[in-house]
Formats: sequence, structure tokens, C-alpha cells
Amino acid sequence: MKGAFVTVEGCEGSGKSTQIRLLAEKLQRDGVDFIVTREPGGSDVAEQIRTIILDGKNTSMCDECEALLYAAARVQHLREIVQPALSQGKLVICDRYVDSSLAYQGAARGLGYEYIEDINSFALKEFSPNLTIFLNISPKAAFERKHGADKDDRIEALGLEFHEKVYRGYLGLLDKYPRICAVECGGSKWETNDKIYQLLKDKGIIG
Ligand code: TYD
Repeated sequence: MKGAFVTVEGCEGSGKSTQIRLLAEKLQRDGVDFIVTREPGGSDVAEQIRTIILDGKNTSMCDECEALLYAAARVQHLREIVQPALSQGKLVICDRYVDSSLAYQGAARGLGYEYIEDINSFALKEFSPNLTIFLNISPKAAFERKHGADKDDRIEALGLEFHEKVYRGYLGLLDKYPRICAVECGGSKWETNDKIYQLLKDKGIIG
């Protein structure tokens, strides 16, 4: 049996962690065989790469190095965690994947979608999720909801202007990749979670 690969995307403070936790509770209740994992990280080697990327002291890191490190962490995590789980027939829910690189490094850092697509297809050999859920809330609204950014995190500390570019980067992907479905996050966390669950049903990911 072949599993399904679902990735969850969104800007800083979009509520990904909360939504994934609520989703996991429902999947468990319904007896679905699944794992939850995250990028960058999710395996020993990839977590070590994550520490280098996010370390606030690494101010000299150039954009290309950052993009390549994300791609390196991604392929390690894919081979070690995602693909084995899929081949056991599990549903894999992954917090961030290649669309984060397209939005953050491609759009906001300015490397362009094409550069990110090239290095990731080289690294991953075209490994595409079955469904990508984009939690659609602007960074301004998200930061207001969570009362500001985490200044110790090198990416999160970049300021509203950077995160607006990330947001526009995500919006630019919606037409390009039909696998990405936007979920509006204006309501309560429960309402958003109901929408996500319904989406998984509508797409035939769960019964
Ligand atoms: P994390 O603390 O996991 O943030 P979040 O809870 O918002 O997911 O840190 C991951 C950071 O890495 C986040 O700022 C987004 C960024 N990122 C990229 O810039 N490119 C990528 O390819 C990925 C996977 C993450």
C-alpha cells in the first residue's frame, strides 16, 4: 500500500503548529495510520543542519548557502523519514517543505523560483506532495495575533517587510501548483481545523 504525503505551509505565526496538533488529534481519534514531521529537521542529520541555518550568530550566511542547506536538510529528511513511512502506507503530515524555500529563499531573499526549483529537483528528483495546505493569513495579522516575532530566530527576526515578501511569494505559487490549496484562517482555530479536515476528505487523503 502507498501512503500520502501532505505538507503544511504558511507564514510565521500562521498557526501551523496548532493546526497540525489539532489535526493529529482528529486523525488519531479516527484510527488513521500517520506520522507528523517537520522541516528543516525531522531527523538527526537534518536537525543539525537546522541548527546551523537558524543560528542567529550566522549573519554572514549568503542566500545561496541558505537555500542549499534547506535543500540538503530536505533530502536527508525525505530519505530517512518521509519515504520509509510512505512505503509503509502511512499518511505523512509535514510542517513545511519545498514551498517554504520557494517563498522564503526564492521570493523574499530574491533568488527566484527557478533557482529554487532547480536545486530542489536536482536534490529530490521531483518528489512532490499529494497535497499542500497553505494557511492563508497575512504576516501583519499573524504577528498581531501572536504579539510579535521571536528575535532569537534568524529568519523570524527579519521584520515585517521580509515576511510580506514571503506571503506574496506563497500567493504566487497558488496558480503555479494546483496541489496547493489555500485555507482561510480568519475564524477560530477550530473552524480552520474543520476546513483542513474537510479538505483531506475532499481530496480522498482520508476516508
Ligand atoms: P521554525 O521555528 O520551524 O518556524 P515555523 O514554526 O514558522 O515553521 O523555523 C523554520 C524557519 O525556516 C522558518 O522561519 C521558515 C524557514 N524556512 C525557510 O526559510 N526555507 C525553507 O525551505 C524552510 C523549510 C523553512
